[in-house]
Amino acid sequence: MSSKFDKFNAEVASDPIAFWQAQAEDVHWITPPTTILDDTNPPFYRWMTGGQINGCYNAVDVHVEQGRGDDIAIIYDSPVTGTKSTLSFAELRDRTAYLAGAMQARGIGYGDRVIIYMPMVAEAIIAMLACARIGAVHSVVFGGFSATELAKRIDDATPRLILTASCGIEPGRIVAYKPMVDEAIDIAKHKVESVILLQREQLLAKLVAGRDEDWREAVAAAEFAECVAVNSEDPAYILYTSGTTGMPKGVVRPTASHIVALKWSMRHIYDCGAGDVFWAASDVGWVVGHSYIVYAPLFAGCTTIVFEGKPVGTPDASTFWRVIAEHKVRAMFTAPTAIRAIKKEDPEGRLIEQFDMSEFAYQFVAGERCDPDTLFWLQDKLGVPVIDHWWQTETGWSIAANCAGIELLEVKAGSATKPVPSWDVQILSDAGEVLGANEIGSIVVKLPMPPGSLPTLWNNDKRFVDSYMSRFEGYYETGDAGYFDDDGYLFVMSRTDDIINVAGHRLSTGGMEEVLAGHQDVAECAVIGVNDALKGQLPLGFIVLKSGVVRKDEDIISEIIAKVRKDIGPVAAFKHVVIVSRLPKTRSGKILRATMRKIVQAEPYTLPATIDDPAILDEITDAVDAAGLIQSS
Ligand code: COA
Ligand code: AMP
Repeated sequence: MSSKFDKFNAEVASDPIAFWQAQAEDVHWITPPTTILDDTNPPFYRWMTGGQINGCYNAVDVHVEQGRGDDIAIIYDSPVTGTKSTLSFAELRDRTAYLAGAMQARGIGYGDRVIIYMPMVAEAIIAMLACARIGAVHSVVFGGFSATELAKRIDDATPRLILTASCGIEPGRIVAYKPMVDEAIDIAKHKVESVILLQREQLLAKLVAGRDEDWREAVAAAEFAECVAVNSEDPAYILYTSGTTGMPKGVVRPTASHIVALKWSMRHIYDCGAGDVFWAASDVGWVVGHSYIVYAPLFAGCTTIVFEGKPVGTPDASTFWRVIAEHKVRAMFTAPTAIRAIKKEDPEGRLIEQFDMSEFAYQFVAGERCDPDTLFWLQDKLGVPVIDHWWQTETGWSIAANCAGIELLEVKAGSATKPVPSWDVQILSDAGEVLGANEIGSIVVKLPMPPGSLPTLWNNDKRFVDSYMSRFEGYYETGDAGYFDDDGYLFVMSRTDDIINVAGHRLSTGGMEEVLAGHQDVAECAVIGVNDALKGQLPLGFIVLKSGVVRKDEDIISEIIAKVRKDIGPVAAFKHVVIVSRLPKTRSGKILRATMRKIVQAEPYTLPATIDDPAILDEITDAVDAAGLIQSS
């Protein structure tokens, strides 16, 4: 007898267009769409075209107009500053409308790009919604990225305006944002016209006359801006994510189908609706922040939490449980790495016992594979369903999950459960054949992907096709490898490319190699991701010095570590470099990264048949051992 979930799934699969047409009726349109799926130009599919809509209206104004103006939209909880506050939907509408008015006063409007480089304060959400209100396209850049990374995004997105704050607060240090914004504007070829800056009392920033304006002054002088109509397929935002090179990919999010898909996901995946408190402990700089701190909870009329803190150290490993209890959170979403950090400090989960978490119904995890230890610990200590779900910046919402709002299925450790209805997931061999149960291969999605997923990359249809659509015709290549078990549960095991996952953050080893290669003394280099008990993976660099370099190894190593921090940002967590005389390669010149990874992880490996010079592997082993980096098996 098939389950409720299987029936639901089969119904959606039998007519996805009718299904999404019905869901489209659940959001507010200015003009309804004329076409539900435009499939005339594959692989460029467009959902819900020909309509007009506004994202801010669907997130905020609609709730005010439906009589929920006094309900809480945002709870700001900041253990790093010792402050808490709330904003009702009516207050959020007004704050957003006046910021939008200030942007309009600077000439910003429909189709203009705006970069947002902000810490986790309520104004970051207001900034995103203000863009949506006036039809501007935001591109949020995570605060842990450097000025160089910010400059790359400025040059690609060509924004007219940057919305920023004077500083972010990391445990033990204040991160000055303004010097990074100034430096990025200097480095970038594209010239940004305006900056609106939120001064925070922890560190005031100097404004550049004629270009920069104080946020509060700009808002005080502004007029209330109404929501404008945008075309359903207009980009709501661009979010840059790591690709295989140092140039990130600008993932485009289509406005209308994104609203429809996210609103549906809130009820059917997360089992939350109007009035429920939903908390994604991420950052607005990541897709999790876009979809589940900002848009989905607000489209669904939930209260969302903006948390400015860390799982540990702000002030201790009880913070997550305190927030859940204090704000009566129904469902919470974090990365397994955050739980591992908590578990390390409080292995018995004693800190949980002091809180009344009776409203808490679900713990969701994503961002990296949830290792069984973390899953079992959470299940045991929290006593609520723990749901691992798998998705990516590109898709914007879950490809596979245990859909709590349809039917909670049995949880299998290490699996993200089953593909969400409307996602046709398959496992392919390198030759493109569909593989059977328990056979590992490339995880792909049969086209078209459901609403909300990326229609293309910003200004780069070619890279979109090359990166995702060309290897397996008719499928989107996720870049992940895995398998289905006999019951149709999906296990996502690893990446098939040079992307690594460090503390739930997606990073490119290719991008790091570009930075290493830019150092004056480096002839050749390789960066690999190696297992780490806390962060999942950590990058490790190998360099070959140019001949004739006589400087001290320690000096070169510390310069390279500092260079990655400066050029990519502290978020890269790049702390180790090993100097070797040459890199292991195949006879055709391909660096044997997988073999290097096995050496560091003390795993057995077979000597690659095509290796150019087997002796180098002994040298690598000795060098890694001498640096104390061989892991215990
Ligand atoms: N602005 C400036 N710097 C930042 C930053 C920001 N917004 N976020 C992180 N950094 C810095 C940190 O201060 C740290 O710098 P350091 O090298 O000087 O210590 C570095 O970037 C690495 O940060 P982080 O990855 O947060 O590591 P951590 O050791 O400070 O904390 C965890 C480890 C596991 C607690 C933390 O990574 C975490 O909470 N991860 C969850 C990630 C997440 O939610 N991802 C979203 C997907 S769901
Ligand atoms: P991002 O685009 O930053 O969200 O990173 C997406 C990538 O993170 C995926 O392609 C996976 O490699 C990894 N990932 C995210 N969630 C999971 C999960 N639940 N299980 C396994 N891997 C995951």
